[in-house]
Amino acid sequence: MSDVDDIVTSAVEAFGRIADPDELERVKAQFLGKAGSLTAMLKSLGKLAPEERREAGGRINAAKDRIEAALLQRREVLAGAALDARLAEEALDVTLPGRGQGLGGIHPVVRTWQRIESIFGSIGFDIADGPEIETDWYNFTALNNPENHPARSMQDTFYVEGADTAGLPLLLRTHTSPMQVRYACNHRPPIKVIAPGRTYRVDSDATHSPMFHQVEGLWIDENVSFADLKGVYTDFLRRFFETDELQVRFRPSYFPFTEPSAEIDMMFASGPQKGRWLEISGAGQVHPTVVRNFGLDPERYIGFAFGSGLERLSMLRYGIDDLRLFFDGDLSFLKQFR
Ligand code: DAH
Repeated sequence: MSDVDDIVTSAVEAFGRIADPDELERVKAQFLGKAGSLTAMLKSLGKLAPEERREAGGRINAAKDRIEAALLQRREVLAGAALDARLAEEALDVTLPGRGQGLGGIHPVVRTWQRIESIFGSIGFDIADGPEIETDWYNFTALNNPENHPARSMQDTFYVEGADTAGLPLLLRTHTSPMQVRYACNHRPPIKVIAPGRTYRVDSDATHSPMFHQVEGLWIDENVSFADLKGVYTDFLRRFFETDELQVRFRPSYFPFTEPSAEIDMMFASGPQKGRWLEISGAGQVHPTVVRNFGLDPERYIGFAFGSGLERLSMLRYGIDDLRLFFDGDLSFLKQFR
């Protein structure tokens, strides 16, 4: 039965030539499968004499063991090669520098916000923060802007479903002025505070966005005058725009929460915007009704308030002509402020 050894030899040789694991399994069947050559030999045992059968059977089984061992060994070699190939392909160079090196920058409006906080902080103003969903009372009524008062229509408002605990409507605050009342009700004079934050109005074009930022200022004490407002605000603008040549004027205006009220205009002495009056802020002496709503006696306490737009200040500082640029998220715009 030397052909048994031939089968083992050709099986070992065949396995050794194969590089593909699926092919290996197919070739295995040629020897060990139902129609395989070794299986055929086992089947032919029946034709032999009983004494020969025993010896031949033993040799065939031994051959089967050797083929299986060769198969197993080849499987391991191929699996090892596959792993090596994959490791080489997915090789990781741990010495390469990391990729996440792009540093973000501060948004220009937030830069303005931070500058304002530092300028007012340096002259003793506290910094307050309050809710963006506001009640009708703080946003309008407490600011001497009663229901049905025509001045309410100066601000197109986003109302929110639901009501406050007193059943009053809720809205996205249309200005930061409600913070005057919230803060003053919780602090004793002298009250000296700014409240920067997000505000909302139904408004959208090159100079208006439905969400924008304002900073509110309030100074209340026993003898804070309009002259103090002029001094503080002029000094703020000159520091913000980094020029003492900046001119500032106060133009009569109307706001329900101040009397007298003013619109503040500024004019650059140089640069591309030189020589033009630019509207920058609303302001005024806080109305006695509002002082009363602070829980204070208007015969004793007096002061000023102002409300300025952070986008407007940023646009003038950086010479930006379209407000929407702040909110488009365009990196080529934003990267200029890093
Ligand atoms: N709240 C006003 C607005 O959004 C701005 C304003 C005007 C605020 C006069 C004030 C002020 O504090 O005194 O149009």
